[in-house]
Amino acid sequence: MTSENIKLDIDYVRSQFPAFKDPLCKDWSFFENAGGSYVPQQVVDQLNKFMVSTKVQPYAEYPMSKIAGNNMDKATEIFAEMINANKKEIIIGGSTSINLYVLSNALRYLIKRGDEVIVTNQDHEANISPWRRLKESGANIVEWKIDKNTHELEISELKKLINNKTKILAVTHCSNIVGSVNDLKEISKIAHKYNTIVIGDGVSYAPHGFPDVKDLEVDFYTFSLYKTYGPHLGLLYGKEKILKKLPNQNHQFLENQYPYTLNPGGPNHEELSSLIGIYEYFENLYNHHFSNKKLKFFDRIQKVNNLIAKHEENLANPLLKYLSSRKDIKLIGKKTIKNKDRAPTISFTSKKHSSKKISKILNKNFIATRNDNFYAWRCLNALDINSDDGVIRISMTHYNTEKEVKNLIKILDKNL
Ligand SMILES: Cc1ncc(COP(=O)(O)O)c(C=O)c1O
Repeated sequence: MTSENIKLDIDYVRSQFPAFKDPLCKDWSFFENAGGSYVPQQVVDQLNKFMVSTKVQPYAEYPMSKIAGNNMDKATEIFAEMINANKKEIIIGGSTSINLYVLSNALRYLIKRGDEVIVTNQDHEANISPWRRLKESGANIVEWKIDKNTHELEISELKKLINNKTKILAVTHCSNIVGSVNDLKEISKIAHKYNTIVIGDGVSYAPHGFPDVKDLEVDFYTFSLYKTYGPHLGLLYGKEKILKKLPNQNHQFLENQYPYTLNPGGPNHEELSSLIGIYEYFENLYNHHFSNKKLKFFDRIQKVNNLIAKHEENLANPLLKYLSSRKDIKLIGKKTIKNKDRAPTISFTSKKHSSKKISKILNKNFIATRNDNFYAWRCLNALDINSDDGVIRISMTHYNTEKEVKNLIKILDKNL
């Protein structure tokens, strides 16, 4: 069988996640993955191991401490390699929101009165508010607005907004509502012509395939590890040549010790260490599906990413087709996924029922999802959707099954 024909072995995938055997969860279809994903056994084991024997102050010479420090370093190195960065470019903070908040405080030094900062109205608020606050430092805030008909951020619009005064552009790689994958590489190329720093939010992208940050050419990139099968942490990547120049946000004596300069208080030790479990899980996925043991780690990850993408397309396309066929439903974003141009994060509203009511119906039928604005309230406002009632969001990931999607469509069809 050529690697193009290999299908994700969904039974194997699900066997790696203890949640799917747990009495509390096992009867549910879990469709709230864009809010946070379950973790594989390997993450639980790594966390457990750290807590039992190495939960001491790391980096001393006694073995428990030495191993703690080694595991924390190993986790950082693995994630650097996973996204094609180096370990001095990786910050593991409490969440994406906190990482972006700290980054925006560090980038303040760049801003002079009259400079411009571009934010979008498609992003989650985590990649908007910190940049809008730069108004206090004299920046003019410019909004790159989504197209009301396509719900997309059109690059032609960006070209009208960006200029030599633009110092920062904050844009999502994939909206947690619209689901489209924005062409971050093209966006970065345009921005760099004006020496603009690009901050890409990959929170809704990374769960569907770890990115190659060098290929994307972004200056900063962030995602939330609790949505990529890990504990509640956020990863921030920053280009080393920029990172090393940023003013220190940590203890004064840590001046020049980037990337810690952007990690006040340091990472959560046990959770950082448990990220090794994500690596082990992806390695297991690779070894279960592919036989070439000589491939480099980064290339193995890409292979697994492709496998996942194909499976997610098969999950999402039937639901997208069903929702877009109904006249009483407003589907947000693209009607199909082709060549990874969309995440399987599918939002909609109904002309007949409130999102809250639909959410209740789905919950009654053991479908875990919710109605909300998911902190992308500017996006909902732009789409004329009440941000209190919000959208229904069905967010899938590679451990969802085609059977679950069929059942979801049946329930929607019967009840709406
Ligand atoms: C697209 C997007 N960006 C940013 C965030 C904020 O992430 P965190 O919860 O890690 O602060 C979220 C959280 O849901 C998100 O969906």
